[in-house]
Amino acid sequence: MRIDQAHALVTGASRGLGARVARRLADEGAVVTLVARSADQLRALADEIDGHVLVADLADPAARDGLVARAAAQAGPPVTILVNNAGIDMAGHLPDMTPDDLQRLIAVNVTAPAELARQAIPGMLGAGGGSIVNVSSLAGVGVFPGLAAYSATKAALTHLSAGLRADLRELPIAVTTVETGLIVPTDMAESVNSYPPTRASFHRFRHLLPDTDADDLADAIAKAVAGGRRHVRRPVRAQGFSRLVEMPRRITEWMLAGVPPRVG
Ligand SMILES: NC(=O)c1ccc[n+]([C@@H]2O[C@H](COP(=O)([O-])OP(=O)(O)OC[C@H]3O[C@@H](n4cnc5c(N)ncnc54)[C@H](OP(=O)(O)O)[C@@H]3O)[C@@H](O)[C@H]2O)c1
Repeated sequence: MRIDQAHALVTGASRGLGARVARRLADEGAVVTLVARSADQLRALADEIDGHVLVADLADPAARDGLVARAAAQAGPPVTILVNNAGIDMAGHLPDMTPDDLQRLIAVNVTAPAELARQAIPGMLGAGGGSIVNVSSLAGVGVFPGLAAYSATKAALTHLSAGLRADLRELPIAVTTVETGLIVPTDMAESVNSYPPTRASFHRFRHLLPDTDADDLADAIAKAVAGGRRHVRRPVRAQGFSRLVEMPRRITEWMLAGVPPRVG
């Protein structure tokens, strides 16, 4: 994928990993549209990278509606790289969450990536190809106390990526799944570490799951987009976990070789 000819829409681009990915893609020459709720932070970054801003709460169906078309109308070219990075953790004991918390968690972490992919795919095909990056987590592979609902959303996102890859087989759209342990420095790493059972769990896993540097990860994501890679997995020493969970998907894919992925 030629990043220098792409229009990249990056969600959760106001801070953390998303801001770094946006900056990295802009450095490579992409036109970048930044999406999140924090307008001031988005505009500050957009000024630096000559990017575009769409302020949107991705938990809100009305704000998601037509978002990819609005990005294309504002920036000019169709969105050809979609980075579904926005995410929330809400670390804590499940019964302490409100019904609204649960709905927001699922809406931002699962519904929004699926919906934005749905919106973006036709334009990518019209432009001759594209790339969808879903920022998932090793929490979708292992289970950690305090992250029951979050882990479920990340398992869903990883599986959504695999399903999309099956649906898009033989089409020029790559799907990249990002699976990592803690990413630093980010607000989310601080948030999950503020809940003692989750912090104790990560401490137990500290040798298998050393922290991942956000800038290094943003670099790896940009390289994966350029190379059409299926996965970005960090830390490298924990890759085996993801590969084990991936195995039934790969076996299914292999067994379904030759079955038409779509009608028409
Ligand atoms: N940090 C980690 O340790 C870690 C580990 C594994 C995976 N991940 C995943 O990596 C991704 C990025 O996380 P991060 O660490 O960079 O988190 P972060 O620093 O907390 O940033 C989260 C981003 O998502 C945006 N966001 C949150 N709710 C939103 C909403 N309702 N609508 C639109 N945007 C929203 C935030 O912007 P606004 O608040 O301005 O809306 C912000 O830009 C997430 O998907 C996360 O699950 C993180």
